[in-house]
Amino acid sequence: MLMVDIIRKKRDGGKLSKEEIDFFINGYVAGEIPDYQVSALMMAIFFKGMDDEETHLLTSAMLHSGEVLDLSGIKGFKVDKHSTGGVGDKTSLVLTPMVASCGVRVAKMSGRGLGHTGGTIDKLESFKGFSTAITNEQFIENVNNIGISIMGQTKNLAPADKLLYALRDVTATVDNMSLIASSIMSKKLAAGANGIVLDVKSGSGAFMKTDEDARLLAEKMVSIGKSAGVKVMAVISDMDQPLGRAVGNAIEVKEAIDTLKGNGPEDLHELCLTLGSYMVYFAGKASDRESARAMLEESISSGRALDKLADFIEAQGGSRDDVYNTDNLPKASKSVDFTAPYDCYVSSIMSEDIGVACLLLGGGRRSKEDVIDLSVGIYLHKKVGEKCAAGEKVASLYGNDDKKLAEALERLKGAYSFSDTPVQKNSLIKGIVE
Ligand code: URA
Repeated sequence: MLMVDIIRKKRDGGKLSKEEIDFFINGYVAGEIPDYQVSALMMAIFFKGMDDEETHLLTSAMLHSGEVLDLSGIKGFKVDKHSTGGVGDKTSLVLTPMVASCGVRVAKMSGRGLGHTGGTIDKLESFKGFSTAITNEQFIENVNNIGISIMGQTKNLAPADKLLYALRDVTATVDNMSLIASSIMSKKLAAGANGIVLDVKSGSGAFMKTDEDARLLAEKMVSIGKSAGVKVMAVISDMDQPLGRAVGNAIEVKEAIDTLKGNGPEDLHELCLTLGSYMVYFAGKASDRESARAMLEESISSGRALDKLADFIEAQGGSRDDVYNTDNLPKASKSVDFTAPYDCYVSSIMSEDIGVACLLLGGGRRSKEDVIDLSVGIYLHKKVGEKCAAGEKVASLYGNDDKKLAEALERLKGAYSFSDTPVQKNSLIKGIVE
């Protein structure tokens, strides 16, 4: 088989066979097919697309290009969750202890963030001593013992995706639905869970800017999951403003803990209940989603979900006291406020600019080598549709450097728009794909 024939076939709108897809994936990982030929193929796919069958075959080839985690040592049904990423998205920190406290086994692989804030692992490192650098055996043992564990993504998980994603990034071929869906799902499926819930964000702070694109991606990922034999669903959720009110790392951990205590922001609470009810239902711990939701509400009111977070943090090297006393989390030394220019309503918040403001404070990474300042962040006192009196606090910035605070404040101001007349609030859940 010749790579040039595969490129020509796709360039001319043909459909690739399993043998052709396996050939280019295996050859690329083995270093036998050069970047320039794979780049040409990615561009041909970008323009000509892939049908569902090709997309499933590509996912399967990438998924089997490296280690597939064997979670058979974990008793019972294992669930995982994935978000396509957004500003202020601390859902995993709330959701995973909630569902684990309802008896669901949560075995989750997470990444570090390259972007506005850290990823789940960075945020969790706000707990002193906490580590996700654990062995597969420890990971399995923790899930069996306390129902939850989160580990860093192993190097050898879907290596074909790692190579392809890096190549797509520099050849303007990221934005193709089949390539995105297969990239995400190959990693998720290699992580071995029996059930996966997907949170596909839609809006200014998300990868998918429109609801239509978000739905298309959700449908493709759900279709891939089903063909691989896992239980899967997707929520399409709003990212036309940040989720919750906290954006950063330690500040998001604090908001997650408040939510587990029943005092969190309404949108975060609702999203966790929606995603969580599917996780509990998929795992067979409730006969329908309404009773699953009631179990999750009870996990908060009884304090069980918070205790589960403490068990999890302790099992991975942190101190459970830090879960109950958030004053122990990293804190910035300085703050500045953005106040309302006149009596008004917030009409929009550009999530992406809020994310950039956090990055400017030092809360995110521009390159893999950057060190995140876990203490910095932003608190949004006012969100879309909320009324502000002249001079009232709209948002507060927390940082450790006056110059960075001033720069971030300018960015934050530009993110907000105001109106003299009442504005409708954004709806959080824009769709469900089952
Ligand atoms: N995230 C991924 O993991 N892969 C993509 O292709 C795009 C976003």
